Amino acid sequence: MTRKLFVTTALPYANAAFHIGHIMEYIQADIWVRFQRMQRDGAADREVHFVGADDTHGTPIMIAAEKEGITPQQFVANIAAGRAQYLDGFHIAFDNWYSTDSPENVDLSQSIYRKLRDTGLIVTKTVDRFFDPVKGMFLADRNIKGECPKCGAKNQYGDNCEVCGAAYQPTDLVNPFSVFTNATPVMKPSEQYFFKLSDPRCFEFLKDWLNTPGRLQPEMVNKVSEWLGEAGEKLADWDISRDAPYFGIPIPDAPGKFFYVWMDAPVGYLASLKNYCDKKGIDFDAFLNDPSTEQIHFIGKDIVSFHLLFWPAMLKFANHPVIDKLKVNVHGFLTVNNEKMSKSRGTGISPLRYLDLGMNPEWLRYYIAFKLNSKVEDLDFNGEDFVARVNSDLIGKYVNIASRCAGFIAKRFDGKLASTLSEGAQSWINRALTVDVNGVIVERQASIAAHFENREFGKALREIMEIADITNQYVDENKPWILAKDAEKTAELHDVCTTALILFRQLTILLSPVLPGVAKNVASFLNDAEFTWADTQVFGDAVSNSMLGRTIGAYSHLMTRMDAKMIEALFDAPQAAAAIAAPAGDAANDAVSAAPAAAAIEELAPEIKIDDFLKVDLRIAKIVNCELVDGSDKLLRLTLDAGEGRLRNVFSGIRSAYQPEELVGKLTVLVANLAPRKMKFGISEGMVMAASSADEKANPGIYILNPWPGAEPGMRIR
Ligand code: MSP
Ligand code: ZN
Repeated sequence: MTRKLFVTTALPYANAAFHIGHIMEYIQADIWVRFQRMQRDGAADREVHFVGADDTHGTPIMIAAEKEGITPQQFVANIAAGRAQYLDGFHIAFDNWYSTDSPENVDLSQSIYRKLRDTGLIVTKTVDRFFDPVKGMFLADRNIKGECPKCGAKNQYGDNCEVCGAAYQPTDLVNPFSVFTNATPVMKPSEQYFFKLSDPRCFEFLKDWLNTPGRLQPEMVNKVSEWLGEAGEKLADWDISRDAPYFGIPIPDAPGKFFYVWMDAPVGYLASLKNYCDKKGIDFDAFLNDPSTEQIHFIGKDIVSFHLLFWPAMLKFANHPVIDKLKVNVHGFLTVNNEKMSKSRGTGISPLRYLDLGMNPEWLRYYIAFKLNSKVEDLDFNGEDFVARVNSDLIGKYVNIASRCAGFIAKRFDGKLASTLSEGAQSWINRALTVDVNGVIVERQASIAAHFENREFGKALREIMEIADITNQYVDENKPWILAKDAEKTAELHDVCTTALILFRQLTILLSPVLPGVAKNVASFLNDAEFTWADTQVFGDAVSNSMLGRTIGAYSHLMTRMDAKMIEALFDAPQAAAAIAAPAGDAANDAVSAAPAAAAIEELAPEIKIDDFLKVDLRIAKIVNCELVDGSDKLLRLTLDAGEGRLRNVFSGIRSAYQPEELVGKLTVLVANLAPRKMKFGISEGMVMAASSADEKANPGIYILNPWPGAEPGMRIR
């Protein structure tokens, strides 16, 4: 029977760009999905739909949009427009990316709500809420600040104190004020809609649901059981309403009330799937009702209560067909050099910076996969460990096999692999790809497949690297580079290189959920169509038979070593993004000009004070390197030393005026405190100064500034 898999990752808040923790979650899910997609051999066939969406509703986004003077819809659209560069950049292949602010989500959320109401699980209660009398708005916990009731720290949020860690209600704050207007909030009664989680039906259901084998990780079963209590006595009703103004979905028949964002957010999974099905002509309802459908959520440990209490209870009592199909995979948090990353600020690693530096996305995929298991454990990104792991496994073990053997096939055998293998070679293949378990020979691919299926990616990769180790041992023992020197050993050389490449192909197929880009290149180099998992089945000699006598393409380098310097560059990343070097038009004017001839010079800028001028920090910088920028005929990439003990990367639009080599070693002037700006080609960390004429026709030149001899990098210009 075809397994039908509906896979999602948590829907990220649409109030910020992705940080490396998001990327980690997507990589985990993407690897699992790619593994499933490779199962295409009839019986174990899979139909996989992998969807995501932006989580758009709620107060923070509404406020952020207001600050920018745009509508929340526009705000969210801007964030959404930035998603693809991350997803494409890290080979994360969602089938659909959608939004919780969509007609599908309105329909689905309201329909679930109506059904809950019809079963008597929606109740209203009038509760006192903080209200900002100036803004005319009820205040969320985080919209109120005041003094911590425990330690007295000032300026603490309404839910918990960042100084002493105490958790409390906003009403406990001393001297509370609204973060919007500083007004003292007043208590105002408001009718709220609650999902009646305290109803005994919820407890009865959840207890069973959670104990269904295969549904949740054991540690999650324990955790949720604790939350339930012995008889559900710990389950409190859940407030699912918010008062206008609120960016959200209106509650049916309740004017001025909106669903709390966490009510419609998980419904967004279904909305994205529905949107996708409609585009693809798939019958959404039939898919969800199909008994072979599985709905699988990948989420982080911080949002477990929403996914393991509220969401299943909502689905169950709305009589939704997916409730029996639901599985939730919870992962721990990614830390960077053992530091927790903040939800709003992310970490020292910016995913875009990573890509801009030209770092290979598959290095990160491999490293994260290597550290992942099926448990809810945090994993640490450590720079040194990252370099060591990637260079040792991917370059030293894996790529090394092909780079040591492929050349001989091209040069000596016209690109054709041997058409038979020696017995010795065949036995090495068996040795690499099978293992003796208590006297029974089993295929390693089967246990590797089980590891992928069970999200034990670290274990899968360790076992794959054992195959690589055996293959390298084979190459080391047979030394093709020595065989190549002896004309009488030609057949042996052919045998050895063919064998090594057969194993290299196997390694590639096994690694392809993790390294999809490399796998694609290898497939084209080996003249393979797309790899499927069936290609890894060893028994019956299929592995070697499919390769023998095959003509392969030219080998081109698959992956480079990582330079430890890249990690330094990754970490001293400037976080913000802003203006860059665009010298034309930005030229410094010489204010002392006494030249009488009234040429067409640019009009002077309005007068400024010395203080204004001093805001601009100009420094002498040495151009230590300069190169052309692939894909741009305007820019040069400068590497500058402004005496700071680090180098800066600056793009400058002076390509038309200078050859890179003319500039290397020269001193120039850098606008050193300009906010870094992200460009298509990388981040520009400042701007070099150059003169140009207002009348480009009269003088199209661009003239970079160069100080008098004696100036040194780092000196300030004033
Ligand atoms: N919008 C909610 C989810 C709604 S799901 C219906 C949300 N968004 S989030 O942007 O804050 O987080 C999205 C996902 O990223 C969550 O699964 C969260 O656990 C995960 N991560 C956030 N920080 C993380 C790390 N440091 N490491 C790994 N995952 C992290 O919560
Ligand atoms: Zn405190």
